[in-house]
Amino acid sequence: MNKPIISIICALSDTRVIGIGDRIPWHIREDLIRFKEKTLHHTIIMGRATFDSLLKYYQKSGRPIPERNHIIATRDKNYSVAIPKTFIVSSIDKALEKAKEIELEEVFISGGASIFKQTIDRAQKLYLTIVHTDLPGDKYFPDYSQFKKIVNKVDGESENHHYTFLDLER
Ligand SMILES: NC(=O)c1ccc[n+]([C@@H]2O[C@H](COP(=O)([O-])OP(=O)(O)OC[C@H]3O[C@@H](n4cnc5c(N)ncnc54)[C@H](OP(=O)(O)O)[C@@H]3O)[C@@H](O)[C@H]2O)c1
Repeated sequence: MNKPIISIICALSDTRVIGIGDRIPWHIREDLIRFKEKTLHHTIIMGRATFDSLLKYYQKSGRPIPERNHIIATRDKNYSVAIPKTFIVSSIDKALEKAKEIELEEVFISGGASIFKQTIDRAQKLYLTIVHTDLPGDKYFPDYSQFKKIVNKVDGESENHHYTFLDLER
């Protein structure tokens, strides 16, 4: 198998909602911990909108951005950020090329909706958190029925939600 593995990591509801406006509709601490554990010391690819939200979150919390490479896709030629190990690219192809250069093991595509839609056909693995809720949203995860092999499945419960960690391959 070619390295790095291309994976998608996402939390979505039973109806595939992933966001409302610029935010995620739920807060599940266990999911944030899982995201951090999976991606730490690896590389994540994100759309510019999701990265901007992430930056705001870390600025507000006062905590440093976790140790990993960030590849940000934007069509804005003037976009820049002064954060180490952060690379700005102008297309999905360039994001994946950059990931090949800097990541040996696994690259995690981390959203948002537009990036998931453009990359799902190229992903080998999905790390999903299925949140069992009918909260409304306006950003969706694409159909993923081509991923049929269940690699791992663990049910959990947080303060407010039941969820399932579901790892899938094709
Ligand atoms: N539940 C989850 O796990 C999860 C994870 C992440 C995000 N989200 C949610 O997803 C939503 C954000 O998704 P979104 O679709 O609005 O935004 P997004 O995918 O995060 O970012 C969209 C931006 O990425 C850039 N982009 C997209 N395709 C590109 C391409 N082919 N080449 C170059 N640049 C490209 C463009 O940036 P420019 O406009 O700068 O050109 C575009 O406006 C929010 O609601 C967020 O909360 C949920």
